[in-house]
Amino acid sequence: MVKKLAADTNAQVQVLNTEGMLLGDSSISSTPIPVKILTPDVIQAISGENGVYIENLHNEKVLHVSVPIKNKINYIAVLRLSSSLEEVYNVIKKLVLFFGVVITASSLVALVIGFFIANRLTKPLNMVKKATQEMAKGNFKVRAQKISNDEIGVLADSFNKMAEELGQLEEMKNEFISNISHELKTPLTSIKGFAVTAMDMVGENSELYEYLNIIDEEADRLSRLVDELLDFSKIELNKIKLTFDDVDINCLIRETVVALKPVAENHGVNLICEKNNDNLVVYGDKNRLKQVLVNLIDNGIKACESGKTVKVVLEAKERAIIKVEDEGHGISESEMKHIFDKFYRGKNSRYSGTGLGLAIAKKIIEEHGGSITVESEENKGTVFTVTLPIKYQ
Ligand SMILES: Nc1ncnc2c1ncn2[C@@H]1O[C@H](COP(=O)(O)OP(=O)(O)OP(=O)(O)O)[C@@H](O)[C@H]1O
Ligand SMILES: [Mg+2]
Repeated sequence: MVKKLAADTNAQVQVLNTEGMLLGDSSISSTPIPVKILTPDVIQAISGENGVYIENLHNEKVLHVSVPIKNKINYIAVLRLSSSLEEVYNVIKKLVLFFGVVITASSLVALVIGFFIANRLTKPLNMVKKATQEMAKGNFKVRAQKISNDEIGVLADSFNKMAEELGQLEEMKNEFISNISHELKTPLTSIKGFAVTAMDMVGENSELYEYLNIIDEEADRLSRLVDELLDFSKIELNKIKLTFDDVDINCLIRETVVALKPVAENHGVNLICEKNNDNLVVYGDKNRLKQVLVNLIDNGIKACESGKTVKVVLEAKERAIIKVEDEGHGISESEMKHIFDKFYRGKNSRYSGTGLGLAIAKKIIEEHGGSITVESEENKGTVFTVTLPIKYQ
């Protein structure tokens, strides 16, 4: 009977009596040696219930299922089926592996698709962002590339339209400043000319002489402002023309310091320049470089109280390094970001200018392939550093 059952089920079949004694075994051809099997499944079957037990036999898991056999009144035997679980475990392992590979692969595919979709969405947005940042720096010629016809495409279109209009307005403004400055120059020259002539006519002892002198000085001041405005508009319209030639930097510094000595003295400020005997030559526009130096020294003088010092130092490393150091009121951190902006004038500036000096200076130095930087400590002083490429030494 056990043999027949084993053939049907593919399992080892055993029959035990109600004490657990082995009566028949499908894996043994003869009658088995009487031996008691009292594994948990058998014990449960003896007590009248179905028993299940998984045994670890030589690293192999074996499932035992025991069921009690009953005649009409009593339990008379136990039928025990045993089968190796190895194959089942192998199937489970294969399934786990299969699902692991499928999940990993599909996650990777999802990731790649997600990346491409995100990129498709963010690329046009990034292009618009870059264009806006560029425009915030003052470049109105920048345009956003239109990649798609969706909302982002519409945004790029609107941005480009706005950039074009702003560019036109900016150009109109610069043209206006340029024209008005030109128009102002002629009457100013007449005012100054007639004031000087009138001064000559009335003579120094006349009461009128003082008034005419004021007119002359104020005309000079206005003239300087108009010159700065003209320079500015030229720079903005890219019409500034530099005349390059060999410039002896030592000589240039000396000349500028000598020219500004009277201004410094008027403010009670010491203006000194540290001698450097090197013959340092830069290829540049002498007048424009002088204009930069004049503005830096003038700013230093304006920042200083009477009795303080403004010093101009020249060093030569790989580049010519000009430092303008002052002992003035310094520049606060919040102001620092703006001092090179056009028309920016410091809050505690005692002397009014147009606020164009540094903006023009920066542009001129950049046109020379140089740089201009600033370091400052409030109430201690400020150092402006200009570097320029050296032609020869
Ligand atoms: N050495 C300095 N010490 C303290 N503040 C300075 C110094 N140099 C510049 N600044 C600040 O930076 C501002 C801008 O300087 P910038 O030379 O551009 O304009 P300005 O001197 O006011 O006018 P302009 O030079 O057109 O006559 C100044 O108004 C001042 O507040
Ligand atoms: Mg200035």
